[in-house]
Formats: sequence, structure tokens, C-alpha cells
Amino acid sequence: MSESVKLPMKKGFGRTDRTDDWWKGPTAMAAYLGLMIVYATWRGFMESDILFFSELGASSCENWDSAKSFKDVSRCQTMSIEQESKWGTSHVLSPLYSPLIFPQSSWIPKDLWWLSPAMFILVFPAGFRGTCYYYRKAYYRAFFQQPTGCAVSKPWNEYSGEKGIFVVQNLHRIFMYIALIYLPILTYDLWLSVNFHDAPDGSADSFGISVGSLILLLNVILLTGYTLGCHAFRHVVGGGANNWSGTILNKAKYLMWKISTKLNERHKDWALISLFWVMFADFYIWICQDFGITDYVLIGGL
Ligand code: FES
Repeated sequence: MSESVKLPMKKGFGRTDRTDDWWKGPTAMAAYLGLMIVYATWRGFMESDILFFSELGASSCENWDSAKSFKDVSRCQTMSIEQESKWGTSHVLSPLYSPLIFPQSSWIPKDLWWLSPAMFILVFPAGFRGTCYYYRKAYYRAFFQQPTGCAVSKPWNEYSGEKGIFVVQNLHRIFMYIALIYLPILTYDLWLSVNFHDAPDGSADSFGISVGSLILLLNVILLTGYTLGCHAFRHVVGGGANNWSGTILNKAKYLMWKISTKLNERHKDWALISLFWVMFADFYIWICQDFGITDYVLIGGL
């Protein structure tokens, strides 16, 4: 029977024989992920009716209690940009608030009406990213020091695996299925952002492209690249087939697997850039709405 052999590593947190700047990666990752988490939390609370957040977002609207749609709260919220034209109104909805669920709906218990719309939906994207294979590697190193780095001594003696609370990581495939549902929803938001509805004569000017719509377009592309390159998605489309050429379905699976594999090769890049862009899209919408910055219509619309 083989015996386990311990490598001759230096003892003490961060001690190592490595001579490269091994600490730069995890430190930068901790700063990046920390910033994203703080920003998303701040914005998630902003439209809630609690503490001083009530003064910031939609809950400070006079008509918030009876709001049923975008237009009801369009002048005093930071979730979406309302774009007026002679044809009607389009809107650029923040991906942090999509799909938009109004807390004060009849099917939601009154005790939960103080929640922000983002709180109903962010749990799923957060679960998807939190259980992602790439992010796990990143935040185990950046935040948990498990490990601190390859051949670098960590503060804990042993590695106990993904037990206890970490069994939730096994839900990644479920979160992936839910994340797939978000893609058509975000694409629909993109459609709404270019559709200056209610044009009485149906002319071409009823459509327009603003800076906000381009930001939403890039957001859909980046999130699609991230989601379809997911390891679990690749396994779903590529697994369970002994033959990739026999039927149309098998050929389609093979094509999907090849696309997913290509995206998967840069999964880290898709993961990090798409996260930044979701936050940036929300940031753009927030500052436009809160600080009176115009979302310029570049083509059509007005
Ligand atoms: S492994 Fe990263 S999203 Fe699935």
C-alpha cells in the first residue's frame, strides 16, 4: 500500500521557496471580486425600502406604492433609463434588475414589500457565478487561502474538501439551467431598448439605438459567451452521445459541443469581463438616471 508523502514545504502563512510574484494574482483577484460584490450589494439595496436606502431609489417615489410598470416610477428610480421620443418611450433596464419584479405585487407577502426588485433575482446569477468552477478556484485562493498558492504555505493545516456548506457547489448545473433562462430575458430587454414603441404609423423611426442599447447588446454577448462556455453546459450538450454524426440531433449536439469547447478555453476571460460589464451596464444606467446624464440616441429614435 502506498504511503502519503509530504512535500518539504516551508511552514508559516505565505512562506515559500518560490521566487516569482505569486501573491499578485490572488491579491488583484481579491480586490476585483471584493469591489464587484460591494457594488452589487450596494445597488441591490438601493431600490429597497429600508434604512437610508429609502431615500435613494424607487421607494422614495411618491407613486411607488401603486407602481405597476416602468412608467409609473420612471422619474425617480435608478433601475432603468426612460428614453422619450415623439413616438413614445423605450427603456434601458439594468441587468441587475432584470427580469423586473415589483415587490409590491399581489402574489408577494406584504412583509417582503420593502425588498428591492434586484433581491428577487440576483440570487440566481450570484449562485451561478459562486458555484462556477473558475470562480471557485479564484475565491478559494483570494479569500479563503485554501490554498494560498501553489507551493505556498497556508494558514490552515489541512484541506477538508468541499464539505459542509460547500456541498452547495454541487448545485452548479441547476444554476446553469436557470442562467440559460436569463439570456432570452436579457435579449428581450435589448429589444425593448431599441424599440421606441407606440409609433402611430409604424415608421422606421420607431426604432433607435442609444449608447445604453449598445451597452446592453455587449452585455448579452458577454453573458452568452460565459454561460455557453460553462463546464456543466459543455457536459450537457456533449455528454450521453456515442455517435456524433448519425442523426440531426447528434450533429447539432456536436456543433454545440464544439462551440462550447471553444468558449470554454477562455472561460476565465468570459467570467471576469462579463462580470465587469454587468456592473458597468448598471453603473451607466444609475448615473444617467440619478445625475441627469443623457443616454444619447445614436441612430433613429428621436
Ligand atoms: S463552470 Fe463557470 S459557469 Fe459553469
